Amino acid sequence: MTISDDRQPDTLRVWRNARLVTLATDQPGHGIVERGAVVARDGRIVFAGPEAELPATLVNRADVTDCGGRLVTPGLIDCHSHLVYAGDRAHEFELRLAGATYEEVARAGGGIVSTVKAVRAASETDLLEQTLPRLDALIAEGVTTIEVKSGYGLDLENERKSLRVARQLGSERPVSVTSSFLGAHTVPPEYRDDKDGYIDLVVNEMLPAIAAEGLADAVDGFAERIAFSTEQIERVFRAAQALNLPVKLHADQLSDTNSAALAARYGALSADHLEYTSKSGAKAMAEAGTVAVMLPGAFYFIRETRKPPIDAFRQHGVPMAVATDSNPGTSPLTSILLAMNMAATLFGLTVDECIAGATRHAARALGLGDATGTLEPGKWADLAIWDVEQAAELVYRMGFNPLHQRVWRGQ
Ligand code: NIG
Ligand code: FE
Repeated sequence: MTISDDRQPDTLRVWRNARLVTLATDQPGHGIVERGAVVARDGRIVFAGPEAELPATLVNRADVTDCGGRLVTPGLIDCHSHLVYAGDRAHEFELRLAGATYEEVARAGGGIVSTVKAVRAASETDLLEQTLPRLDALIAEGVTTIEVKSGYGLDLENERKSLRVARQLGSERPVSVTSSFLGAHTVPPEYRDDKDGYIDLVVNEMLPAIAAEGLADAVDGFAERIAFSTEQIERVFRAAQALNLPVKLHADQLSDTNSAALAARYGALSADHLEYTSKSGAKAMAEAGTVAVMLPGAFYFIRETRKPPIDAFRQHGVPMAVATDSNPGTSPLTSILLAMNMAATLFGLTVDECIAGATRHAARALGLGDATGTLEPGKWADLAIWDVEQAAELVYRMGFNPLHQRVWRGQ
């Protein structure tokens, strides 16, 4: 250990008397450290391990937090959300309760397009104000990093507005935000009969402008019968790669379009949803190192019955992440803990898989595997301190929040 205790007092922080769930890659299971401590300097972890290895002078400092034996995990990461939107789709929910399917509602002019209308009509301030309560709900559950997509603007001006709001979330609240440009979410009304023309706009105008402004950390798309063909998504991916932006994809959500394999071919950070992904799609993801993002909230809410090929992901060693997919149409969910519970109850993930899915693997799905997601030296000091005895309780409860304290970059 390389910690000396003679540094400036305000740059060092210590959490002791903690049961650490480090998620460290070189340790089996969760990497539990029974009587552990975390030390952070300037917002980054410099030590996470047995308290017995800490110098006594460090333990006696004033800014040491005694965790009272509580469980400490990495801060949780929601690696797939459409948090920035205006209005709601409660009416469509009622239509679906009366028997309509998600696809039928979308084809009848509802669905994503109805949220597009609300987002276009909203001012930037209004959009921010409508989004913050959703973000606050996630932060209250220990979320320290969140991915936020655009995709409800579907023209340059409104996609930029959405991405600016996504960026602003990170200055309004102590949370790390990554943003994904989802211009290829669906075809906007003004291009209804010209999907290729809309993809031209995405590729030739929207993407270059958004990249030039640094508004997106990644590029996402939706390959589906009600959205875009794999050929159209490939055009978007090629344009993204030419601009050095990593890609990810809403893949095989409602049908098998072989889009998980497409994502893998482009070295995607993640392919998400995946209910209809084939075994060969899972294998292609493993070879490409593409993370499989499970979104059980959408599966539940649209009453899907086909489950993602979890066994194939396990067999091929595809890392699985778990996220909320928070959005007004298919997953009006602002609880990462409930998403973890659903991943276990609906998809059969183990507790270990759910916890890794909202920490280590979620970080990797965002290209942040070196920055967060585990309690290891060099990572951001993002911690969630829980009032629970065992890690399984984080997954087992429904609608109960046992968070004691959240630490974001050491604060
Ligand atoms: O992740 N699949 C596409 N996009 C969203 C749904 C968006 C909406 O219905 O507003 C999803 O499920
Ligand atoms: Fe989504």
